[in-house]
Amino acid sequence: MAVIINLDQEREKEQPDALTRLCDLVQDDLENVNRLIIENMHSPVELIPQLAGHIIAAGGKRLRPVLTLAAAQMCGYHGQRHAALAACVEFIHTATLLHDDVVDESTLRRGEASANVLWGNKASVLVGDFLFSRAFQLMVADGNLRVLEILSAASAIIAEGEVLQLMTSNDTATSEQAYLEVIMGKTAALFAAACEVGAVVADRPKKEHEALGSYGMNLGIAFQLIDDALDYSAKQENLGKTIGDDFREGKITLPVILAFLRGDESERDFWRRTLERQEQDDADLRQAIQLMERHGTLKDTVQRAAHYGAIARDALGIFPDSAEKRALTDVVEFVIRRGH
Ligand code: IPE
Ligand code: IPE
Ligand code: MG
Ligand code: MG
Repeated sequence: MAVIINLDQEREKEQPDALTRLCDLVQDDLENVNRLIIENMHSPVELIPQLAGHIIAAGGKRLRPVLTLAAAQMCGYHGQRHAALAACVEFIHTATLLHDDVVDESTLRRGEASANVLWGNKASVLVGDFLFSRAFQLMVADGNLRVLEILSAASAIIAEGEVLQLMTSNDTATSEQAYLEVIMGKTAALFAAACEVGAVVADRPKKEHEALGSYGMNLGIAFQLIDDALDYSAKQENLGKTIGDDFREGKITLPVILAFLRGDESERDFWRRTLERQEQDDADLRQAIQLMERHGTLKDTVQRAAHYGAIARDALGIFPDSAEKRALTDVVEFVIRRGH
């Protein structure tokens, strides 16, 4: 897999292809998922479909539910349970986004004003809780205890990851290992669960559950590494989120950890002032990006992502060749090269 160093231009050429191809393979099921999402966000309490409808209508890549559908299809599943589980996965994801934007004080999501800006923090947290609960109703309706176990465990692990992140925030001494634990929890666990349930509904042997779980976990780690690079390097209109949010908030991500470790004492003073003491002025984000460029830390974050991406691709090695396997393999490259 080629490692892309130019984080902006090179990416945009190829990025829609692999995900679009994966979506095309599961197109009918994906339409079902979108219908289930709309149906299940319904509530007589008007603010709930209003607020949930806002973030859902704003789009999103639907990457996690597509992974569930494609994993199940690759495993030869022909029923309909996977669509409800894919909707469940997207509900968990959407709930975490609503909560995450409150915690991160973010104002832009999927190219639109975020729900916390439009309706306030309280409404965002409560509607996030509603979507979490709906996700649990969907997984209980499936009735398979192993599915329930995987998805409920993932929900708890996401919350742990977010709390762990809170504990490392503003701490420039955070290690790469501690950061990895955060992203495995807050992001990769749901990718892993999304993929693993595909093998579970298809009633495949345990080693296939594990292989898809490993694919999802490593893809999720790569996904968050790239997200953290994009927070400093993307074009805002492509990303649909505000560039520099992580810096302004003092979030300790790999591009920062590496810049701190590789920097001299005056550079470390810069990171301590801006991220620990949160004393920032307008020029500081630019300075931060310059330091990252000087030490190659965005490039190396992408390289780390490529490493986990390679592990994800190899995890699929036990499956026979199929269009789904090829598309799942190619989507790794999409995740690494994406600009949104
Ligand atoms: C955003 O995930 C949250 C992270 C884990 C970085 P996505 O980038 O998949 O968000 P949408 O669903 O496409 O908006
Ligand atoms: C991902 O972390 C958050 C969740 C998994 C909920 P970020 O805080 O980096 O996600 P974005 O950048 O706001 O989408
Ligand atoms: Mg955030
Ligand atoms: Mg981010």
